[in-house]
Amino acid sequence: QSARPPGRLRSRRKPLSSTLRFYAYIRRFSNSTCVAKQCRFWPTETTTTVFIVTTSRISILDQRVRTCSMCSLCDTRSNAVVGSGPHNASVLLLGEAPGANEDRTGLPFQGLSGKILTEALSQANLDRLSVRISNVVRCRPPGNRPPTPAEMDSCKSHLIEEIEALSPKIIVTLGASPARALGILKQREPLSSVRGSVFDLSIDASTYRVLATVHPAYALRSRVKVLPVMVADLKRASDLSLGGN
Ligand code: URA
Repeated sequence: QSARPPGRLRSRRKPLSSTLRFYAYIRRFSNSTCVAKQCRFWPTETTTTVFIVTTSRISILDQRVRTCSMCSLCDTRSNAVVGSGPHNASVLLLGEAPGANEDRTGLPFQGLSGKILTEALSQANLDRLSVRISNVVRCRPPGNRPPTPAEMDSCKSHLIEEIEALSPKIIVTLGASPARALGILKQREPLSSVRGSVFDLSIDASTYRVLATVHPAYALRSRVKVLPVMVADLKRASDLSLGGN
């Protein structure tokens, strides 16, 4: 038997056909789905492959958010911050509003709060890349001030659209603002009155489950141990996303 010359070993993997390469490209770069159909055209009777690309509702929403000018925060932002994570995630985490790091990158929870959130998710056996992470307000309020009720109202249509398009099994509110935005916490009530509780939220004909927990920034500021509380809540959210009670 003649041995193959070194360096000339070929991969056993078959090269992808151009159709499969096109699918892979669409899935990787556009978060859209693509199907191929063989179509026969009249009157020539030639058969051609036609690709039908469907853009997800979330991609369309993200595009709308990036160019939104519904409130004056658009004048001071560098980037509107769209949600991160899969477009079919069963867990949706909601923060309040972007800070400086998020404004720079256009992605939610990038700074120290983001590090704590990633750590809490991993301790709860949830992969950050498998959950959707978003905010009630999509543009940074100048100087990191809390968003005003009017700014929250302007952004509400994006929030409702994201919830309806994603249809998550569980929504986790991080801190008081998102709990107030979804109406599970009254204006003057403290977060402690709802933290750890699960609520039903009705939007049109659908009902979604909402679990309130603390904001990761609170774990930074607070002297009491907040991370274990957050991890316990995220574990519960993970169970609920799998159909538990
Ligand atoms: N805090 C939030 O509420 N959202 C972010 O995206 C970052 C920090």
